[in-house]
Amino acid sequence: MAAEKISVSLVIVSDRAHTGRRMDETAPALLPLFSESHYRLVTVTVIPDDYEAIRKTLIVLSSQSDLILTSGGTGLSPRDVTPEATEGLAGKPVPGIAEFLRRKSQESTPFAVLSRGTAVVYNQTLIVNLPGSPKGSKDCTEWLLPLIPHAVSQITGKETGGPEH
Ligand code: MTE
Repeated sequence: MAAEKISVSLVIVSDRAHTGRRMDETAPALLPLFSESHYRLVTVTVIPDDYEAIRKTLIVLSSQSDLILTSGGTGLSPRDVTPEATEGLAGKPVPGIAEFLRRKSQESTPFAVLSRGTAVVYNQTLIVNLPGSPKGSKDCTEWLLPLIPHAVSQITGKETGGPEH
């Protein structure tokens, strides 16, 4: 049987990109990674660093996506609240994913420890917070991708082409 497609949404969390003060470079860096035929892009959304905006966006997109990647708002600035909004959904925590991404990121930059990104399963959707820099987001997505088919298959029951066990 042909593998079922994995639906993916990207959420760029950035005040400056949202108001147009900065061109978003993260979505263009991530989109080619999902060009393979077993992914289907649902949407790319650019929203401000606002708890309620992030929360509402994640809730809406979770009903249409197997995977949501957020980018940005994971640091220590007062406006960085992406992890809080993600954890506020009270889904099932997946600490291993965040630990893995931070560990791999530390090979590139010591500042990796400043990303508080988290991962949860909410409404049958895997939500993963990535750091905001285009390179950081791209690297993390590349590390994450081999895990996705099996994770989505476990969460949704879809035949995604992940490993059998
Ligand atoms: N992780 C990777 N792989 N690459 C990076 O460039 N940047 C770090 C960290 N994690 C980075 C990274 C930095 S400098 C910060 S401040 C935090 O992510 C938080 O970034 P954010 O607030 O844009 O999400």
